[in-house]
Amino acid sequence: MRLSDSKSEIVRRGNKVVYRDGDRLLKVFNSEKPAADVFNEALNIARIENTGIRASEILEVSRVEEGEHKGSWALATRFVKGRTLADLAAADPKNMELYIGQLVDLQAEVHSFDAPLLNRQKDKLARMIGSCHSIDPTVRYDLEMRVDGMRSGMRVCHGDLILSNVIVSDEDKQLYLCDWAHVTAGLPEVDAAMTYLLFNLEYPEHADLYLDIYSHKTDTPKQIVNHWLPVVAAAELSRKRGLSEDFLRNWINVGDYD
Ligand SMILES: Nc1ncnc2c1ncn2[C@@H]1O[C@H](COP(=O)(O)OP(=O)(O)OP(=O)(O)O)[C@@H](O)[C@H]1O
Ligand SMILES: [Mg+2]
Repeated sequence: MRLSDSKSEIVRRGNKVVYRDGDRLLKVFNSEKPAADVFNEALNIARIENTGIRASEILEVSRVEEGEHKGSWALATRFVKGRTLADLAAADPKNMELYIGQLVDLQAEVHSFDAPLLNRQKDKLARMIGSCHSIDPTVRYDLEMRVDGMRSGMRVCHGDLILSNVIVSDEDKQLYLCDWAHVTAGLPEVDAAMTYLLFNLEYPEHADLYLDIYSHKTDTPKQIVNHWLPVVAAAELSRKRGLSEDFLRNWINVGDYD
């Protein structure tokens, strides 16, 4: 892949730089990013395109040929011109309830699709928690048992559904979801638990509003979402994204362990 000189940086994180390059969105990963993860994200996007969910299509996965990122893996999707719900909410905080409502409507719509070819949520959670040796083994065992007893769902679960991953298109005013690295086939309530956890980390003053709106719009008792909080907190801890570790550990320990 060649990156043009006119590209502009959108965000720079520990393991990647995200650029707009003309009508393409480029995620350029650092050398530690396993190729399998990059191809998995691309395959997830291709599978999502097949469901009919609105997402920007995958264009290319290849190594960068020259310049600062020479040799790094990069993933290109079509750039959706617009603003994220996070940007809209930051500019217009008094309408947070409206933006969260839009996020929940989109989440419920995504959950209405089946995608049996995606990675399985239950397997992924078991793998993530099993590998997280910084969790006390007794607590970890109980979390693993909780995952073991999980019904197997086939619904599309984005896995990282937050305001910054929803783009409101300037062209058709529709909502588009990006960042499909963590999508699985699974249970909507587990996905809602993950979104609730992310709200608590990023928008703590609005987290309960999210859960209220999700519960009412989808007719889901909050207890069913709360049941999965220790599990998704452990999964998040295993991702080592650097999100408040003490906070995650407190949530893992909310469960009733012997
Ligand atoms: N197809 C796209 N069109 C327009 N903007 C996009 C697109 N994909 C991503 N973006 C913008 O780039 C930002 C970062 O992209 P993305 O969310 O995929 O990366 P990330 O949050 O760093 O990923 P991860 O959660 O996997 O670490 C998004 O919040 C959004 O503003
Ligand atoms: Mg993102």
